[in-house]
Formats: sequence, C-alpha cells, structure tokens
Amino acid sequence: MSDIIVAVDGPAGSGKSSVSKEAALRLGWAYLDTGAAYRALAWHCLDEGVDTEDADAVVARLADFDYSIGMDPQHYFVRVGGEEITRDIREPRVSAVVSHIARVPEVRVGLNDLFRRLMAENPKDGVIVEGRDITTVVAPDAPVRVLLTASAEARMARRSAELSAVSAEATAQQLASRDAQDSRVVDFMNAAEGVTTLDSTDLDFEQTVLALLDIVHARTP
Ligand code: CDP
Ligand code: CDP
Repeated sequence: MSDIIVAVDGPAGSGKSSVSKEAALRLGWAYLDTGAAYRALAWHCLDEGVDTEDADAVVARLADFDYSIGMDPQHYFVRVGGEEITRDIREPRVSAVVSHIARVPEVRVGLNDLFRRLMAENPKDGVIVEGRDITTVVAPDAPVRVLLTASAEARMARRSAELSAVSAEATAQQLASRDAQDSRVVDFMNAAEGVTTLDSTDLDFEQTVLALLDIVHARTP
C-alpha cells in the first residue's frame, strides 16, 4: 500500500484531474484518475453495443472489463483489452452516458475494489486519487482528504476554454446535467467531516496546484 494517500473529490471542471496529476508529478508520486475507469467502462459498453441504461447488461460487461491505467503522471494512459483509448474516453458520446453506468451499485463496488488494488500495488511513496467518492467511500481513512470546488461559472468557463465556441454551449449543458445525475448517487458538492475544502474559483491552475501541495505538506510528515 502507498504510504500516503491523498483523496481529492469535486464536481466536473473543478480542476481535479489536471491539478492532481501536476501535484503528483511534483511530489514524484502516483496519480489515479478514477473517473477514467467509469469512462472506460462506458466506452466499452458503447463499443460492444450494450444499452447503458440496462444495468444488468452493464454489470455483465464488468466481468470481461480488461482495464489498465497508467498511474505515472508522466506516462498517463487508459487501455481496454490492450487498445489505447486515452483520448476516446473524453468524447461527448462517452460523457453523455457515463452517469448511467456510474449509478449502478455493482459497478461502483467492482470499480472500488479495482481502485483499492491499484493503490495497494503502487510502488511510489504516495498516490493522489481523484474522483467523486474518494474522500467518503474509496479512501475515507486517507491522511489527506480534499474537496476541490469552484463556482459553476468558473467550471463552465474552464471547460469552454478547452473547446470551440460552437460546442461550448452544448458542453456546458451536458456538464450541468452530468453533475445533477451524479449528485443523486454521491454527494461531492459538500465536504464530509474532516475533509478540507479548496475553493479554486479565484485561483489559476498554478495557484491551485500550490494550494493542494500546501495541504499535503501540512498533513504529512
Ligand atoms: O473530468 P470530469 O470531472 O468531467 O469527469 P470524470 O472525473 O472523468 O468522471 C466521469 C464520470 O465518472 C462522472 O461524471 C461520474 O459519473 C463518474 N465517477 C464516479 O461516479 N465516481 C468517481 N469516483 C469518479 C467518476
Ligand atoms: O477533472 P476536472 O473535471 O475536475 O477538471 P480538469 O479537467 O482537471 O480541469 C478543467 C480545466 O480547467 C483544465 O483545462 C485546467 O487546466 C483548468 N483549470 C483552470 O483553468 N484553473 C484552475 N484553477 C484549475 C483548472
């Protein structure tokens, strides 16, 4: 097991993935993107022609879900069945259905087992794990637990900045809809007891990375 686990949760566009990955890089630690596993399973279902609203059919795919992820922040990748799908899992068609599979309890239990195994096998001194329920379900005993937030406006603006103006509006709507669906399953908008809130609304990327590193340093030897 990694000596130090840093658990980071938050809504879409709060900066979880990019900030956690950069902080892990600077610490020389591993980085685990749990959302990538949900996205990869959603991609796998689409690839196999499985109806993502059919919970039984989705759970059946979990049995042959041959998933691997790069936890070295310098060599991040996502593969299913040996096929690299690192970029494919970010496509809007995957974002549109990922919440369907994430609300299936058996999927959450199965993926949480996978996350705990990946954390246990990590050879580095620490790991930053980010998602929606890491501080509360996956690693509630982690020495460092952070809820990364940002106003809805800031989160939409960040996502839009990554896209063309044409798709920005559609993406903003999809992001709000996904957060609403996900919130019914896991509460990632309010910090659980003992979890430190880091509000990045008025922080740029570098300031957010430094703020996360400050929290890590304050809570670890
Ligand atoms: O990057 P973004 O915040 O848009 O999403 P993500 O972290 O890639 O997660 C994709 C989806 O996976 C979320 O919308 C949730 O439905 C699901 N997820 C989850 O349920 N629990 C997690 N720990 C991580 C992701
Ligand atoms: O993983 P999550 O959906 O929470 O967000 P992300 O994909 O890591 O971040 C979305 C975008 O916001 C990225 O392009 C980040 O570089 C950017 N960002 C920012 O502009 N300012 C911050 N304080 C944090 C992230």
